[in-house]
Amino acid sequence: MSPPASAAKLRVGIAGLGRLGRRHAEALAFSTRHVELVAACSPVAAELELAAAEFGIAPEHLHADFAAFVDDPAIDAVVLVTPTSLHADQSIAALRAGKHVFVEKPLALNVEDCERVLAVAAEHPQQVAMVGFVRRFDPSYRRAAEDIEAGRIGRPFLVRSQTCDRNDPQGFFVRFAPTSGGIFMDCSVHDIDLARWMLGRPKALRAFASGTIALHPGLADCGDVDNGLAIVEFEGGARAVFYASRTLPHGHETTTEVIGTEGTLQVGFGAARDRIERRSAAGVHHEVLPDFFERFREAFALEMVDFVAACRGERALTLTLSDALEATRIGLAITRSLRSGLPEAV
Ligand code: NAI
Repeated sequence: MSPPASAAKLRVGIAGLGRLGRRHAEALAFSTRHVELVAACSPVAAELELAAAEFGIAPEHLHADFAAFVDDPAIDAVVLVTPTSLHADQSIAALRAGKHVFVEKPLALNVEDCERVLAVAAEHPQQVAMVGFVRRFDPSYRRAAEDIEAGRIGRPFLVRSQTCDRNDPQGFFVRFAPTSGGIFMDCSVHDIDLARWMLGRPKALRAFASGTIALHPGLADCGDVDNGLAIVEFEGGARAVFYASRTLPHGHETTTEVIGTEGTLQVGFGAARDRIERRSAAGVHHEVLPDFFERFREAFALEMVDFVAACRGERALTLTLSDALEATRIGLAITRSLRSGLPEAV
């Protein structure tokens, strides 16, 4: 399908209106330029009712059936915010139906599914296919990448990166674990993508992981942990160390350190909710970030702006499906290592 004329709005349909889908829908409906949210898909009737009530989507464009959704002639592009286990097949169906595709991370939970998406995307070069590695759109991470590109820390050779969520006593992620791929595929996949980006996309060779269950024993049923550690070795000597946690007591902490031969860069340390610092005899306090969405609110908005611009033919994407495939490949080796207790080849 050819990109719409620049004057025309990109007509988007969203599939999945859960925790993150609602946020993407809000951005598309209310704050992204050159786009119109015209259709929605969910197997849950209440979510379709929400799509009508909150986003004004007309009844004929509310779909319980995904096949009917991708065939809806009113849409140019789909945004897929569905369970990870559905990403590959839904992306392929949308590409074959002639739509541009934005799909949330990770692209898929095995390499074969990623390769199937890449093959179909290659058959549809006029259509955009983008994976939601939101940190690529965060202004701080972008500045860090530019600094590295400009040689300001010399040759980067080590990345230490973590994604740590505030403990959710309700254990949403325990219910989510059977379809998420586990803590490394769900959380560390962002850090894996960042490490490849910051280190210049070296080939990953070997991974070693360990983990523990600190608070959520239900995770054991699917071989998952609530705190995980991993080391990845890359060709040429670069290394990455990842930490992921579901159990921080106070808030969300995503931090990354890139170590180079002539300097280091740190992103996200000491992140505060706002710019207020309260000082008293009890100490100096600032509010912490409650969750990933507040930390990456701006990046989620910029990500949609880039997707829309790419679909309208105004901008090329630097983030590729191959990057998403490599992130899955590395995440899988880490997950295998967690289970085997041995280093695993990537
Ligand atoms: P969720 O479980 O809250 O939402 C999933 C949604 O998909 C629900 O609305 C459900 O009704 C819908 N759904 C289920 N089957 C469907 C089908 N066959 N067709 C259409 N819709 C269907 O999950 P959440 O947390 O919103 O995550 C969704 C995706 O977003 C996951 O792949 C996750 O990895 C990703 N994600 C990405 C984040 C990021 O930082 N980029 C953060 C959180 C989630």
